[in-house]
Amino acid sequence: MSTLRSPVSAADVAPVRRPVERAHLLPPQVFHDPAVFAYEQAAWFARTWVCVGREEDAAEPGVYFVATVAGESVIVVRDRAGALHGFHNVCRHRGSLIVTEPAGTLVRFQCPYHAWTYGLDGGLLRAAHTERLVDFEPDEQSLHAVALETWQGFVFVALDPRGEGLGDHLADLPGHIDRWQMADLRRARRIEYEVGANWKVIAENYSECYHCPGVHPQLNKLTPYDRGRNLESNGPWAGGWMELAGDAGTMSTDGGRHGRPSLPGLLPVDDGRIYYFVLWPNLLLSLHPDYVMTHQVWPIDAERSRVVCEWLFEPQTMVRADFDPSDAVDFWDLTNRQDWVVCELQQQGTRSRSYVPGRYTLMEDMVHAFDVMVADRYADDGVTTRFEPRHDKWRAERRT
Ligand code: FES
Ligand SMILES: [Fe+2]
Repeated sequence: MSTLRSPVSAADVAPVRRPVERAHLLPPQVFHDPAVFAYEQAAWFARTWVCVGREEDAAEPGVYFVATVAGESVIVVRDRAGALHGFHNVCRHRGSLIVTEPAGTLVRFQCPYHAWTYGLDGGLLRAAHTERLVDFEPDEQSLHAVALETWQGFVFVALDPRGEGLGDHLADLPGHIDRWQMADLRRARRIEYEVGANWKVIAENYSECYHCPGVHPQLNKLTPYDRGRNLESNGPWAGGWMELAGDAGTMSTDGGRHGRPSLPGLLPVDDGRIYYFVLWPNLLLSLHPDYVMTHQVWPIDAERSRVVCEWLFEPQTMVRADFDPSDAVDFWDLTNRQDWVVCELQQQGTRSRSYVPGRYTLMEDMVHAFDVMVADRYADDGVTTRFEPRHDKWRAERRT
């Protein structure tokens, strides 16, 4: 249990934690209240594993990038021996920020204020006029480290992991998706969006296709909204798959793959499916037969989020002279923008005094799965609410 006091009580979220047929959606203050936002940042984002980028963003020694996690500026850098490190971007002297560019290449870090220098491993190299200080050990003046681990080419950091490794956090998720061998994939495109919606609104939207017939007519042709299954989960993730219709080979502007082969390691059945996963708190993975799309959802404040969307492909495919990811990128860019419209509408509507939490349809069992993760963490009572995919049950009932 947390030492921070949750502004949302167990009683407030009790209706969310019921079985989906009886559950109600999250109380609207969780999308708007700055105190709730501050709690989420301090109790969740500052204490769990958060994906900040890809290993290829710091591929060579000295190459770094900066991420902001729970308001903290964090440097991710590769040292000369090839190891990745995470550091707070804060000088040990008077606390100045050290790097001011979002990414770059350096041989060492030099504080812009009084020029203390630090190695790529975070150790203090030089601090002028400290030689005669008493009780000042340069070895004890390294940049403060942040826990950093990688999985499938993704870089995760945790400001305060409290003994939990990344493997503990991922739980049984890798068994469902390691066959995509994402460590071998490389980014072809990256698009950033600013969305006028709370980060949880975006995760909820990603978790269902109930809205697809009306909001995404193009997507709904390729993967009809009611053809899919959701998976049992034993960790902080929710996910499942949708089935491709007709002769569609992937999600793209025309449903074609444009010469891209299936990723090595996939099962024959994966050729006809798109898999979607939400990993707590803010990584969305969309796994296609021929490429992977990811969203990182970064809360800005209670009412706004920054979404970083990336498209990953096989390097052998990317070097081909005719390689052009536009069909995949344009398709999802359109779909993303369609989603942002309704996310912003929900953000605005739930601000109304008239709104009381609505009901989940059984097409929204994965929204419920995400919301249950949220609700358990507000309740902070040590109880993990089990959720089970209802899709199968619902489909069976509809056939009878
Ligand atoms: S604050 Fe960094 S050297 Fe003084
Ligand atoms: Fe959508």
